[in-house]
Amino acid sequence: MSNEKIINLTVNGASVQFIAPSHRTLLEALRHEGFVEIKCGCEKGDCGACAVLMDGEPIDSCLTLAWHADGHEVVTIKGLGDKGNADPLQKAFIDTGASQCGYCTPGMIIAAKALLKENPDPSLDDIKRGLSGNLCRCTGYTRIFEAVEVAAAEMRGETQEGEAA
Ligand code: FES
Ligand code: FES
Repeated sequence: MSNEKIINLTVNGASVQFIAPSHRTLLEALRHEGFVEIKCGCEKGDCGACAVLMDGEPIDSCLTLAWHADGHEVVTIKGLGDKGNADPLQKAFIDTGASQCGYCTPGMIIAAKALLKENPDPSLDDIKRGLSGNLCRCTGYTRIFEAVEVAAAEMRGETQEGEAA
């Protein structure tokens, strides 16, 4: 019996189909399909670099088998927005200097997106907890936390200083 099957899923709104053996992770499969914006770090669930949204929930794609994504909807950092139509988190990461080498940024923004969906007005501790599964070697985290605060304020319709817009 073959241990390969055809996987059908939606990535950033587009249908994607590929053949995957049962042991292939979603991270491996999607990067192979060209979604290299999903970063590969530890491959064991420690760094969060590979995070994507599956059916709106953040997951580590290195811990998810491609077979488990069959029939599901995946969103990567590119699905959140682009240059002409950036997500507030993408914009805030640029504006605050929260992205240095940028390797952790896709996973950080995916985790932050999930956090702000659950909690639009997070405290600093909430943000730290929400991003606790994501590691950064560059920033010391201060600017990342600031970026999430800035984006959250913008999404609530407030200015960066917290005043009503
Ligand atoms: S590469 Fe998936 S958690 Fe590190
Ligand atoms: S910006 Fe370099 S690892 Fe986070």
